[in-house]
Amino acid sequence: MSDQSTAITAEHFRYIAAHTTPEDDFLRALKRAATAAGIPSIWIAPEQASFMQILLRASAAHDVVEVGTLAGYSAIAMARALPASGKVRTIELDPARVAFAREWVARSDVAGKVEVIEGAGMDVLEGFAADSADAAFLDADKASYPLYLEECLRIVKRGGLILADNAFAFGQLFDASPTDREVPAIRAFNERIAKTERLDGVIVPIGDGLWVGVKR
Ligand SMILES: C[S@@+](CC[C@H](N)C(=O)[O-])C[C@H]1O[C@@H](n2cnc3c(N)ncnc32)[C@H](O)[C@@H]1O
Repeated sequence: MSDQSTAITAEHFRYIAAHTTPEDDFLRALKRAATAAGIPSIWIAPEQASFMQILLRASAAHDVVEVGTLAGYSAIAMARALPASGKVRTIELDPARVAFAREWVARSDVAGKVEVIEGAGMDVLEGFAADSADAAFLDADKASYPLYLEECLRIVKRGGLILADNAFAFGQLFDASPTDREVPAIRAFNERIAKTERLDGVIVPIGDGLWVGVKR
């Protein structure tokens, strides 16, 4: 058998999106309201949400930690993949986004399963107990990812999932002169995480590239 692979193109991304369980009316309405409230549309893609739900269900995750709530889209999507007693603790720096996410979580079908915590990612993560989560999703300031990773390796149980978004650096991973200032931090994180012996990992070409690791 050869190590055959297919180069992923924009056409493949469109195809994947068109052949994935679609998002529901509630999440579509959340996105419309967020845009109307001036919140940037930097939430994960629906097909990435579906994939993360599958990972959480397959690993029987109960407790999830997220850094970067924005409008609550990914937190609500992840909470839907947890059992009734499961919980997502999601951290957001921006008070207006915290207020928006809390309002939409309260209206959602997972109201009791999502806690939106206002604060800086590191400050809040430091207060979480060791081995208190089955999965973590990093989706905030990229320069802090190495610090978040260290904290999540403490917080997430052995065998748990550590997911990190934007491995493809907003589409600018291979640009000689990227316009986004976070691109160098993402490149450095991709290098670092691939060498982390405490994780088994892979970059999945979905959304803007999702790094999926399992704590050894
Ligand atoms: C890409 S958005 C998160 C999208 C969200 N996970 C989703 O898919 O629905 C990143 C969020 O991280 C927040 N953020 C940035 N720096 C942060 C920090 N140091 N601590 C907590 N949140 C932070 C930003 O305000 C922004 O709302």
